[in-house]
Amino acid sequence: QAAWPQADPRPGFHFAPQRNWMNDPNGLVYYEGEYHLFFQYNPHGDRWGHMSWGHAVSRDLISWKELPVAIPESDVMAFSGSAVIDWKNTSGFGTGGKPAMVAIYTGFDPKTRNQSQYVAYSNDRGRTFTRFGKVIDIGSTEFRDPKVFWHEPTRRWVMVVVRATDKAASFYSSPNLREWTHESDFSHPSSSRSINWECPELFELPVRNGARGEKRWVLSVSQGDGGPDGGSAGQWFVGAFDGHRFKLEPNWPDTPRWTDAGADFYAAQSWNEAPDGRRLWIGWATNLRYASAIPTYPARGLMSVPRALALQREGQDWHLAQMPVREIERYRTKVQRLVDVKLDNASRALDPGDSFDMTVTIEDTDAERITFTASDAQGYQTVVGYTPATREIFVDRTRSGPHFHDAFAARHVVTLPQGNGPVTLRLLVDRSILELFAADGTRTITDRFFRADGPLRWEVSAEGGSATIRSLDVWRLAQPDSI
Ligand code: FRU
Repeated sequence: QAAWPQADPRPGFHFAPQRNWMNDPNGLVYYEGEYHLFFQYNPHGDRWGHMSWGHAVSRDLISWKELPVAIPESDVMAFSGSAVIDWKNTSGFGTGGKPAMVAIYTGFDPKTRNQSQYVAYSNDRGRTFTRFGKVIDIGSTEFRDPKVFWHEPTRRWVMVVVRATDKAASFYSSPNLREWTHESDFSHPSSSRSINWECPELFELPVRNGARGEKRWVLSVSQGDGGPDGGSAGQWFVGAFDGHRFKLEPNWPDTPRWTDAGADFYAAQSWNEAPDGRRLWIGWATNLRYASAIPTYPARGLMSVPRALALQREGQDWHLAQMPVREIERYRTKVQRLVDVKLDNASRALDPGDSFDMTVTIEDTDAERITFTASDAQGYQTVVGYTPATREIFVDRTRSGPHFHDAFAARHVVTLPQGNGPVTLRLLVDRSILELFAADGTRTITDRFFRADGPLRWEVSAEGGSATIRSLDVWRLAQPDSI
């Protein structure tokens, strides 16, 4: 491990394992007061390999307790997948009147490279699993990442899984989690620039500004490359799903709708069974181009903050809205508030600490740029900003941190809806990750960033003109206790 100047880049309120390699979130399910977060994990090192399901639980999605490996590598590696609670004991895996937690995942055989779908079940709240075995094998080396949920209208289990290099999502159904019937496939021209599809998701969401009770289904897939900045990314589709096939919304564009405009939000999966009808998801905060070079030790791998989802219409257009779960607010302590501050080619120092939550509303601006700049003692800089003329928000990490990979330095941009009213931005920062949310969560930028050792200085500036900060609130986020 090369010497890395940042003594402790370990985030405070984002999940990372204590040590070793982590990739995709897996098996997200809520049961008996616990949110389960299983994850792709190498128990033996900080590079990809020996893939197993690591495990953590939380009561509030913010304080996580890491538990022993739940599904170890065996003759097959345990690749990505999902988990359900079999309330009706359709599988017969339940015991003593208690439902089983059932994991459905891809078994990867390193000798033949075959990828097939496997089932394992737990009768002790996900702590240990018993392997049932293989349930779907189509003789493919590119068939993975089953997401399973109960579909009440057809009273069947539904699986969406990818034929990765065909860039197709396949739908299966089952009465009992053991026997599966192929129903249909979905593919789309927007995948043309990508090598593959991975980690599909399928769920129904209310339309936030739609007619009463209006809902749509969202199908999301991650893709290995060809994202907004060339690397890995997620895209999503809106449509209808009847338990058999996914029917795309009419006039859906042939170009991808990205899940996030930054570089570091991949393999997002949502929780089955989340209480209050919320649809919550979490992503792996990195990019496949440099995931194995991320300069953190002894853990390499980090999750995004868990986010609540909503679907929003803008004219004929659809947006997927994501906001940090409200549970995070319990960890906040207000440290700074600015009200009606006019900056005219000027800056103000901020003192947010290393882990913070900031909300700012900017108005009456003729500035070229409003920026939030983090600088360290060695001159590395990360800039978050807003360009009023083009209504773009951006993250510029071209000068952040010591160099560790050629593909890292980049500027990520997303355009806000038209209009000239005030602009509100929410920025979550946690040592080596920043998550920017705007326009009610319909625009997000998730980026890792690095820096030299020592404190960061933050300042807000109006460049090339003036801007009024109607309000700016900064909360420090307490490091959650492990539960
Ligand atoms: C995505 C992925 C999945 C696969 C897993 C293996 O990052 O490639 O498609 O199941 O990682 O670790």
